Amino acid sequence: MLLRMQYHLSIATKVLLLSLFSMNFNCSNTRSWIKAGYHYTGDEFPVSDIDSTLFTHLICGFAFINSSTYQLSINSSTQQEFSTFTNVVKRKNSEVTALLSIWGGGEDYSVLFSLLNQSSHRRSFIESSITTARLYEFDGLDLTGAVPRTSMHTTSLGTFLNEWRAAVDSEAKKSGKSGLLLTMALHHHMQVMDTVTYPIDSIKKNLNWAHLGAYDYYLPKEENFTHPHAALYDPITNGTNTNSRVKDLISRGLPASKLVLGLPYHGYGWTLVNPSDNNVGAAASGPAVTIDGSMAYKYIKWFIKTIGYGAVPMYNDTYVVNYCTIGSSWINFDDVEAIKAKVSYAKKMGLLGYNVFQVGNDDNWVLSRAAGRLILASRYFRHV
Ligand SMILES: *[C@@H]1O[C@H](CO)[C@@H](O)[C@H](O)[C@H]1NC(C)=O
Ligand SMILES: *[C@@H]1O[C@H](CO)[C@@H](O)[C@H](O)[C@H]1NC(C)=O
Ligand SMILES: *[C@@H]1O[C@H](CO)[C@@H](O)[C@H](O)[C@H]1NC(C)=O
Ligand SMILES: *[C@@H]1O[C@H](CO)[C@@H](O)[C@H](O)[C@H]1NC(C)=O
Ligand SMILES: *[C@@H]1O[C@H](CO)[C@@H](O)[C@H](O)[C@H]1NC(C)=O
Ligand SMILES: *[C@@H]1O[C@H](CO)[C@@H](O)[C@H](O)[C@H]1NC(C)=O
Repeated sequence: MLLRMQYHLSIATKVLLLSLFSMNFNCSNTRSWIKAGYHYTGDEFPVSDIDSTLFTHLICGFAFINSSTYQLSINSSTQQEFSTFTNVVKRKNSEVTALLSIWGGGEDYSVLFSLLNQSSHRRSFIESSITTARLYEFDGLDLTGAVPRTSMHTTSLGTFLNEWRAAVDSEAKKSGKSGLLLTMALHHHMQVMDTVTYPIDSIKKNLNWAHLGAYDYYLPKEENFTHPHAALYDPITNGTNTNSRVKDLISRGLPASKLVLGLPYHGYGWTLVNPSDNNVGAAASGPAVTIDGSMAYKYIKWFIKTIGYGAVPMYNDTYVVNYCTIGSSWINFDDVEAIKAKVSYAKKMGLLGYNVFQVGNDDNWVLSRAAGRLILASRYFRHV
């Protein structure tokens, strides 16, 4: 009985597969739609709790750059997590691709740029990055946090990407393994936006794709008015928004098909000057709830339910943001509506997929399921 059922099932599977194959042949230029997510080792969220079936790519961050040797370095407290990451995430989904992310930003950005402008430093870093990726069986490498501040930075970043690609290709040839993927996150940086850019030609030529860090545009520590930190559009105040950034990168020559849209699984709380004046643009006096106002999605949901008993988050589709006022706290974040609208946008614009930051902040996978459901049809493409 059991055997017969299996037989029938396998016939059904074959028929299904055949029809999918023929669908694909009719559909030229099929690309795999990327559903990526960062896991941050500083988070207490265990890797084994990640539902890998909801992702095509999982990125473990962050390794660091040693400021004296310029080699990739992993903190001893997170060594174990990095070394087992690939194995653990592939248990639930053997097809998921694992990347190792290197942090090149924050207050230590000068370490990255003094690495980038010296050929011997670049060589140390590149060699150690490939060795570490292979040692822990990662399928690729990602650079996060790098923001060029000067045109010299732009040039040296471009040179570095040329060398990184050449080294990865040559290692693949020598080892006979499939080559490591190379990706990088592009961030927003108000002060340098107009004068300094990323090396678009080099990115286009050398990287498999670029992640757009499409969040943290407006922070409660920096502004005295409320504003969505990750607005998709902003026709009213003409502030920084994702649609303008995507269009800007495309106009500078980055193909849409090399761009993966970042989705924030966090929001920010602002303290309102006058709680009844609580729209976008209301006067604010700094962060609320946490020291810098940042809140994980799952914490926001908990906060609204318990502290803001009865509060109903609004969705504003002009900006594509959810927000909620609880007492004098104004909390803006991406709930299911905003996430769905952004994934639809990514499809409409012909982008390569999306990348969430970060998986451990989801609330029972509500956002990841909402994002993944919109693209059911293209899920099949990657198996062919
Ligand atoms: C950098 O590498 C040097 C030499 O291996 C080591 O002594 C030092 O502790 C490392 N620094 C950090 C911050 O890991
Ligand atoms: C290692 O981790 C500790 C604790 O999280 C942190 O304070 C330290 O800066 C980390 N070291 C490096 C080199 O990243
Ligand atoms: C490289 O960058 C560092 C830090 O920005 C700087 O101090 C150094 O002079 C630069 N070196 C070269 C060769 O440009
Ligand atoms: C918004 O900014 C863009 C670029 O700076 C400009 O071309 C456009 O006219 C502005 N729109 C409004 C409504 O201010
Ligand atoms: C916010 O700051 C700007 C300049 O930093 C100032 O012109 C403006 O009056 C401030 N607004 C409020 C509501 O405090
Ligand atoms: C969204 O917010 C803007 C600015 O506060 C407002 O003009 C607009 O009416 C809002 N839209 C919705 C659907 O609430």
